[in-house]
Amino acid sequence: MSNREELTTWKALQAHAKQMKNQHMNDLFAASDTRFEEFSIELAPFLLDYSKNIITTETMSALFTLAKDCEVEQWRTKMFSGKRINKTEDRAVLHTALRDRAQSPLMINGENIADNVQAALQQMKYFSDKVRQGQWLGYSGKRITDVVNIGVGGSNLGPQMVTEALKQYSDNSINVHYVSNVDGTQIANVLRPLNPEKVLFIVSSKTFTTTETITNAQTAMNWLVSSSFDKSAVAKHFVAVSSNKENAMNFGILAENIFDMWDWVGGRFSLWSAIGLPIALDLGFDKFIELLEGAHELDQHFYQAPLEQNAPVVMALLSVWNCTFLGAQSQAILPYDQSLHMLSAYMQQAEMESNGKSVSWDGDAINYPTVPSIWGELGINGQHAFYQYLHQSNNVVPADFIGSVTSVTPVKGHHETLMANFFAQTQALMSGVNEEQVRADLKAKGRTPEYIDKVAPHKVHQGNRPTNTILMKRISPRTLGSLIALYEHKIFVQGIILQICSFDQWGVELGKGLANQIHEELASGMDNPEHDDSTKGLISYYKGILD
Ligand code: F6P
Repeated sequence: MSNREELTTWKALQAHAKQMKNQHMNDLFAASDTRFEEFSIELAPFLLDYSKNIITTETMSALFTLAKDCEVEQWRTKMFSGKRINKTEDRAVLHTALRDRAQSPLMINGENIADNVQAALQQMKYFSDKVRQGQWLGYSGKRITDVVNIGVGGSNLGPQMVTEALKQYSDNSINVHYVSNVDGTQIANVLRPLNPEKVLFIVSSKTFTTTETITNAQTAMNWLVSSSFDKSAVAKHFVAVSSNKENAMNFGILAENIFDMWDWVGGRFSLWSAIGLPIALDLGFDKFIELLEGAHELDQHFYQAPLEQNAPVVMALLSVWNCTFLGAQSQAILPYDQSLHMLSAYMQQAEMESNGKSVSWDGDAINYPTVPSIWGELGINGQHAFYQYLHQSNNVVPADFIGSVTSVTPVKGHHETLMANFFAQTQALMSGVNEEQVRADLKAKGRTPEYIDKVAPHKVHQGNRPTNTILMKRISPRTLGSLIALYEHKIFVQGIILQICSFDQWGVELGKGLANQIHEELASGMDNPEHDDSTKGLISYYKGILD
């Protein structure tokens, strides 16, 4: 058993949660007119309002004590100083070093990694400038107009989410495309309109062993060679980002076109490394640096602010409170900013691959609920799709609402409508409306008593649904960098409180291994009697139709 449950604070929080389950936020707001002030944190890029949670001063105080008892501050120091906190893989966790704009020296395995980071950034600058300025030429001497990033998971979601979010900052000198799925439909659709003479491929794979990525890269190579009729064209059209230089070179990519990655950067935390090349190519290297600066600002806040004023710590504690103590099983990410349309997909990997585990870092079973399933969609689209569930289902889904004070694309009359919905939804989710109010409202509208009896129960909203609101000044490389770092550190603190190793992902291995085995069976036509009856039946049906 994980020892968190033995902590006095843990037990106190369990008892407190039983009382708080009967509390309505309406009463908590009525009891204090300083709730917003007490439960909000203002930082340079955004305001975090967490007052619409089922919390009191006592709740937060117990949660901060829990953070202290779990040694969050000490773990934070360990992470920033390069201790091997990825216990199961025996690695340091240093995505913060990738964006350390102070370039503080940090020795890892006998090397000052600050030097390595700066050298890698210089390489990225040189390369991205060259491509953007039309000096990197394809096999027929034409300038590159399109870049296709081939990668999946952490080698795709971060760069794609960021380039989508910062579209307004692109000068469109390069069109960036993404291929992540091994379903051939995606790569075929991406390549169809492109001219091979003007395309550059980035094969992004930390391990360079991911079957889906290698399959897509091979298809891209065949597509190129079938146009150029010359294998040497590959050198001019393929670069790689990988820590497995050998595999990348065996694939045919020149050593000088391989951008390094290090074992102290996890895939889902890697957009700050050369995995972010598509960002630099799309926006220009200076904007990529602004993204790093925004993340660095948040890193400093996380490192220096006391726990009580520390935005990522507060968000982590609230997640633990809502899920582990109050029993919520999922969490919605609801951006009210079109730029962030990929944010929830990105957060799914960030949080669920990090903390979706049921064994503690010491290998003991964890009996308490850990992290929620993360899901979401742009808020307005969600309102007309699944918000019914958020407002009236029996399952309470805590949600993060993320909006911007000013739009990057001001269009007359739009932003206020958007923001009116943004503010209205968290109020409605919190306050709800009781039957008495519903009946009075229907009566005031002149409805008959029969109609009121029939409809009133359906119009009741219980409210008391927890939300956090993150109100950003405006989406920019800098504010986006801060926002992503906020969530990264939240996930880290969550892991510490829950006693989870947040930086491994053993749970993806079993399926991968089996897929490789079945792939061989499909290719050879052999049947494997060891599959369960369902899998045997499915494979046999598949083969039967193919035959
Ligand atoms: O299968 C999961 C995973 O290992 C992720 O953790 C990672 O981001 C992704 O696959 C891609 O891995 P790679 O960059 O090594 O191709």
